[in-house]
Amino acid sequence: MPTSYKIVDHVHDVIVVGAGGAGLRATLGMGAAGLRTACITKVFPTRSHTVAAQGGIGAALGNMQEDSWQWHMYDTVKGADWLGDQDAIEYMCREAVPAVYELEHFGVPFSRTDEGKIYQRPFGGHMRDYGKAPVERACAAADRTGHAILHTLYQQSLKHNAEFFVEFIAIDLIMDDDGSCRGVMAWNLADGTMHRFLASMTVLATGGYGRSYFSCTSAHTCTGDGNGMVARAGLPVQDMEFVQFHPTGIYGAGCLITEGARGEGGYVTNSEGDAFMERYAPTAKDLASRDVVSRSMTVEIREGRGCGPNKDFIYLHLEHLGAEVLNQRLPGITETARIFAGVDATKEPIPILPTVHYNMGGIPTNYHGEVLRPTATDSEAVCPGLMAIGEAACVSVHGANRLGTNSLLDIVVFGRAAALRAAQLIKPGAKVKEPKSSTGEAAIARLDALRNANGSETTAKIRGDMQRLMQNNAAVFRTQEVLSEGCQKIDEIAKRFASVKVADRSLIWNSDLVETLELENLIASSLTTLYSAEARQESRGAHAREDFPERDDKEWMKHSLAWIEPGSKVRLGYRPVHTYTLSEDVKYIAPQKRVY
Ligand code: FUM
Repeated sequence: MPTSYKIVDHVHDVIVVGAGGAGLRATLGMGAAGLRTACITKVFPTRSHTVAAQGGIGAALGNMQEDSWQWHMYDTVKGADWLGDQDAIEYMCREAVPAVYELEHFGVPFSRTDEGKIYQRPFGGHMRDYGKAPVERACAAADRTGHAILHTLYQQSLKHNAEFFVEFIAIDLIMDDDGSCRGVMAWNLADGTMHRFLASMTVLATGGYGRSYFSCTSAHTCTGDGNGMVARAGLPVQDMEFVQFHPTGIYGAGCLITEGARGEGGYVTNSEGDAFMERYAPTAKDLASRDVVSRSMTVEIREGRGCGPNKDFIYLHLEHLGAEVLNQRLPGITETARIFAGVDATKEPIPILPTVHYNMGGIPTNYHGEVLRPTATDSEAVCPGLMAIGEAACVSVHGANRLGTNSLLDIVVFGRAAALRAAQLIKPGAKVKEPKSSTGEAAIARLDALRNANGSETTAKIRGDMQRLMQNNAAVFRTQEVLSEGCQKIDEIAKRFASVKVADRSLIWNSDLVETLELENLIASSLTTLYSAEARQESRGAHAREDFPERDDKEWMKHSLAWIEPGSKVRLGYRPVHTYTLSEDVKYIAPQKRVY
């Protein structure tokens, strides 16, 4: 290890990496359980990407009309195109109702009905009576639900003596010779010091990797840091080929216009003024599942019915809802449309395009949040000392396609589940095991090598090329030819990373070095996405193969696993989908044709 680095040691019961909704819900639960809890975050907690979630959190409260968590479970299984693990889905949908009331009691300022109940709106794929008709299930705080939840969770976690390490960059996991995780190495941007955090449990709540793509609704910080750390630790990521495109990103800017806009009565049209969703999804129409709406829009554009001079976008109409509804229910997106599309949504339609929004894949876990390290004989084996939650994780409750509002639900339900599990496994103040050999030197050596990297290419150039490649070669529709080309090109990007140049040698606020570390993580996610997508020869959820248009349950109802081996080679494997439920009274939902 280079000797010039000052290392500060810390010992905690648990370390949570990331302070979005999942990280904060875990942090507050672990703190409340009396565990010495540290939360390491690269941005101030209330700037985490959860703040951008708009439309709502799904829970069958039944405030607007009859609803049930079993219908929610059915919709989630169907939305996931039967790739979700049904034990985990049952857990999430059943826990949704108490989770939302808990948020209410924590202080989340939900919008209200006239009777004072939590307001709920319709959302894509939310149906009553096992798919028969739309239901209002999305519990909303106007169109700023994530903002309301994130701020509330941060306030709550401050009550429980959690220690926050803000603007610390997690570099790598500290793995022991026996394969367990002992903590994480991190870099304090403010003073350039390195920190060795040892703990009985490390929880990755690092979010998704939307920034692998050129156009996404994700914050610049969404760089799949947990995926990168796990891959470097020799652990697999799961179902990476399933990348969700949200139908209503603002054309050109990529900013999100919530699905709640269609929930409130908005609809999309092509250049002929045709509200075409009726043709693609006769029952749910504009409130079909996201993958269905995104594909329908793409077909309309491809067939020459796109809007504008280049016929390359679709219109979202909200003007008929009137200024009062827009101001009350959708104030945030009305402002977003004005700023980013130059459109007054009360008077004109908003130009929109499907935009990368969410990663269904991530670090495989069970429904307690424990990270899996599947072996040939045990697909459920766990990696001791390591958990993952939120978008970083693949539980898998979203399978091949996530339903809108199930991400805010996922973060609070599984953030809490991880805290409950940690409280079962760890005695507060118990002696933390020191790793036998590795104590984080490899992480510092990696950082040092990048800090001194003096190659021929800038981080920005390599990242830009990777983002365009992902946008073109891992898009809404895919073919063998395009994916094979993508694999070859991402291999070249991974090689080019060896020639990166970092201009700034400082350890204090060195954004060039931060972005280079992030780029290495993004490349890990891009590699595993493309290779997993190339291998999966079927269409399921968000993975639409034009050359294999049908779902193939016989061959492909299984989770993809991807390891990154030396030389950035991707090795693939598979593990079974859980076709069982947790409770005897809940029946397995057998695969059906997925129509809306
Ligand atoms: O459209 C939206 O408001 C997004 C919600 C979600 O992704 O869950």
